[in-house]
Amino acid sequence: MSTWQTVEWAAYLLSTVAFVAGLHLMNAPATARRGNVVSGAGMSLAVAVTAVHLGRASTITATGVVVLVAGALTGAGVGLYAARHVAMTAMPQLVSVFNAVGGGAAAMVAVNEFAGHGAALPVNGAVTGAVDVLIGALTFSGSLIAAGKLHGLVPGGPVAVPGGRFLAAASAGCAVGAGGWLVAAPSSAGPLVMLAVSALAFGTLAVLPIGGADMPVVISMLNALTGTAVAMAGFVLSSLPLIVAGALVGASGAILTRLMAVAMHRSVGAILAGGYGSDGAGPVLAGGPVREVGADDVAMQLAYASSVVIVPGYGLAAAQAQRQAAELGELLRQRGTAVSYAIHPVAGRMPGHMNVLLAEADVPYPQMRELSDGNADLAHADVALVVGANDVTNPAARRPGNAVSGMPILDVDTARSVVVIKRSMGHGYAGIDNPLYHDPRTGMLFADAKQGLTDIIASVRSFVG
Ligand code: TAP
Repeated sequence: MSTWQTVEWAAYLLSTVAFVAGLHLMNAPATARRGNVVSGAGMSLAVAVTAVHLGRASTITATGVVVLVAGALTGAGVGLYAARHVAMTAMPQLVSVFNAVGGGAAAMVAVNEFAGHGAALPVNGAVTGAVDVLIGALTFSGSLIAAGKLHGLVPGGPVAVPGGRFLAAASAGCAVGAGGWLVAAPSSAGPLVMLAVSALAFGTLAVLPIGGADMPVVISMLNALTGTAVAMAGFVLSSLPLIVAGALVGASGAILTRLMAVAMHRSVGAILAGGYGSDGAGPVLAGGPVREVGADDVAMQLAYASSVVIVPGYGLAAAQAQRQAAELGELLRQRGTAVSYAIHPVAGRMPGHMNVLLAEADVPYPQMRELSDGNADLAHADVALVVGANDVTNPAARRPGNAVSGMPILDVDTARSVVVIKRSMGHGYAGIDNPLYHDPRTGMLFADAKQGLTDIIASVRSFVG
């Protein structure tokens, strides 16, 4: 082994250590930012060493250099712009598009290997290459459909395609058959095209029937698949950092998928079968009068409560009201009120959305309570203050036959009284009515979350001096 090769392997080893260490740091919100920097440094090192490797090997043409540099600059520019400018609330769509790009790029690596040196590929290279095309292509189309659903370009609920289950099974069978054929004849274009097209069709048909409250689980699963496709691309290229980075994304995505499915009281298999809540049992119809309250009424209630649980949801993120939520909590705490924030695992639009926002507003971590602890707090609370949350508080989840059936919720209706801040009687992500709003103990403050909280803070201050 030459000195350069030793340096190269040592640098790759260092970058893989940085990936693992970075991921570990991401375990806690306090160190997550540092974890991102450490992982990013590892990736930059891997890219730099690969660039030097290419230069030293002299196997790359001048056109190749231009294509690589132009591709890297364009990708980095678009990624940087998107990450800086996309609203926090549109982050899940962005993650889905990144999953699509990752899966598609991984598949293209293997397509290039088959098209360029198919005949020379050993059997293990052909197997990992075929798996790479299969997973990468289905992740590409599935993630684009998921991004379309999250962005409202495709209907967000389960979309039933006539004969969809049969077509999905047929395209999966076709993809597996074409994969086997490709391993036997790695230089033929026919099985390669058939594999790519049937995997793209399968990704589309598999994600269309999934919708509503199940989308977070699907996105996390597509993320795991992107990682797996990248790891396969690493095998195709014999690239250690790519294998490790892909395996880490695949494994952590798979763990997150399972955790989220468990949090929803559903099996991953049942979610993938799709159509949850579209079994004909009918929509949730919540009727009856609604008690509207003003900021002064709410402030009075809060000022004399001995325990308050704040329940944040997507509306808090949309209004960017986290600082006002933290300020109100602190104001009440200073008056001796017990205050906690009950956080549902799928509140908002991405895993950990509420934790990130509240941490950004300096809410102390011990005040952020997970589902079961939050429910224990709610059972003894004088006031449950729901800020822009809907589905995660919907008691319809306790009944069968609707889009949130079976999902564990934050039991805000067990608190002595409930206040909901939202702008209208509009639905949440799952698109169903919420009977909580018609509960006689619930007061509705119709306002933008930031404005509503600001008004409540001002009223509390004026009451207590
Ligand atoms: P949602 O059920 O989506 O409800 C949010 C509510 O916020 C809406 O009913 C809306 O009512 C209100 N709102 C919107 N903008 C507002 C504003 N500026 N001020 C005040 N209120 C505002 O939210 P949730 O309870 O957090 O539940 C999350 C849902 O998203 C679940 O169904 C979950 O499965 C799904 N989902 C989650 C994720 C992840 S990973 N967390 C990813 C994808 C989907 P008005 O229009 O009347 O104001």
